[in-house]
Amino acid sequence: MDTSRENGFLKVKDVCAILNITPHTLRYWEKEFSEFLRPHRSTGGHRLYDDHQIRRLLEIKHLLKDRYFSIKGAKIYLQHDSGRGRRSIQSSPDPEPNKSTPIRREKQRWYDLAILGGVPAFEKPLHVGMPNIGDQDRFLKQAAEILQQRRLTNNGPLVQRFEEEIARLIGVKHVVATCNATVALEIAIRALDLSGEVIVPSMTFVATVHALWWQQIQPVFCDVNPHTYTLDPSCVVRKITSRTTGIIGVHLWGRPCAVDALEEIARHYRLKLLFDAAHALYTSYKGRLVGQFGDAEIFSFHATKFLNTFEGGAIATNDDSLAAKVRLMRNFGFAGKDHVIYIGTNGKMNEMAAAMGITSLESLQHFVDINYRNYTWYRKLLDGIPGIRLIPYDEREINNYQYIVVEVDPERAGLNRDQLVALLERENVLARRYFYPGVHRMEPYRTLFPDAGLQLPVTEALVERVMTLPTGTAVHPEDIRLIAQIIRLAVRHSKQLTVKFNQLNAEKMIA
Ligand SMILES: Cc1ncc(COP(=O)(O)O)c(C=O)c1O
Repeated sequence: MDTSRENGFLKVKDVCAILNITPHTLRYWEKEFSEFLRPHRSTGGHRLYDDHQIRRLLEIKHLLKDRYFSIKGAKIYLQHDSGRGRRSIQSSPDPEPNKSTPIRREKQRWYDLAILGGVPAFEKPLHVGMPNIGDQDRFLKQAAEILQQRRLTNNGPLVQRFEEEIARLIGVKHVVATCNATVALEIAIRALDLSGEVIVPSMTFVATVHALWWQQIQPVFCDVNPHTYTLDPSCVVRKITSRTTGIIGVHLWGRPCAVDALEEIARHYRLKLLFDAAHALYTSYKGRLVGQFGDAEIFSFHATKFLNTFEGGAIATNDDSLAAKVRLMRNFGFAGKDHVIYIGTNGKMNEMAAAMGITSLESLQHFVDINYRNYTWYRKLLDGIPGIRLIPYDEREINNYQYIVVEVDPERAGLNRDQLVALLERENVLARRYFYPGVHRMEPYRTLFPDAGLQLPVTEALVERVMTLPTGTAVHPEDIRLIAQIIRLAVRHSKQLTVKFNQLNAEKMIA
């Protein structure tokens, strides 16, 4: 590149030359996309840019529809119109190079929408929770070594390394890796001697509650706070009875519970406190990473999670004796050869899963960066659409930005959440209703506690209004632009679409 660099940074004039824009435009973009783009400052106060920021600027330019360049894998090529040929800039490595460009179809007019007979915007389905995958070569190398050494499972070296790395990342004394989070929950519940009743939100994935009922413990559903979406501490206090032995808080969508208040309640009433942190690896509460709170916290490394081991989970705790107990329980209760001292299960993580986890951990910052980029694009592009609110992250905390959750106000949007989900589905955008219909409305709880909903007004309203949109490393800003365009178009033409939905409903009734 024929640009001059200052300690590896580019100056304003060089960035403008590369992007073929004026300094005025650069300044404007920086203001518009300030969360996304923060230049460094030289000692003299001049703005300086690294390759990462230039990559982002190129994405902005791309999204703003200037097509002088193309993005290929981790390399960005700028095609100059000045006749001086092609220039290239090396950007930060993308652990998933060679992604093919998906076919996307623009939706300019409302009658282009697939629900009205148009061609779907995306050729292939765009799922929520497409896996984030780290460096494939490094994973495959480790996989080959596992096979060569014939050490496939039973607390192998990679599982131990994965546990140590997660513990170091979070700043917790013990991490015990498991085959999935559901089994981790079951083990932790049993190890903590929970019995009788346990207070739990209904606004969660069904596994949180199944883990209790599986062990004949009665879940007592508690409502969530309408602003934080996690257990409402005042409701928790109201649900405590003489049979209560514990509380399970869920850091829903990576948003931490009111940890201080729940710890205080647990201390006061002498209850055990567990956190289902399935969504919350690498998120913080008051500056401390989740994994350090309560008696123990449970992570999920399922394929759809921020960081995955194909399937996997872990129990994190600072309690030495609890850690020792769950380790035994994870391995059938064996304390030594032929020596079983507890009832246990087979909750072990295997070596291949741990290798995937270690590889994923190496790309953790890349996953956060991409998720943050996607989040800022959604925020920008959904902004101002009536009745559509992107649920924000608390920017003062560390977030993994893995869940893009949108709340739909049907009065203002003119369409309800289910209509938008159906409409997006026709475009091959598989938005999800996490967590519809609420665990209390699923079996066996629906039959066991038919009136539970009467005491869960916030949960009942939320499950009808929220939808989760695709993000992660498999989602490109261009996908987000198109998804937002579809939602904007749908809301703008909600009247025409309502006619279509009424017609579809009538046809369904006749059929
Ligand atoms: C809140 C919550 N808890 C528990 C689980 C169960 O995790 P796993 O699939 O690893 O068993 C999930 C999985 O999606 C979840 O979302």
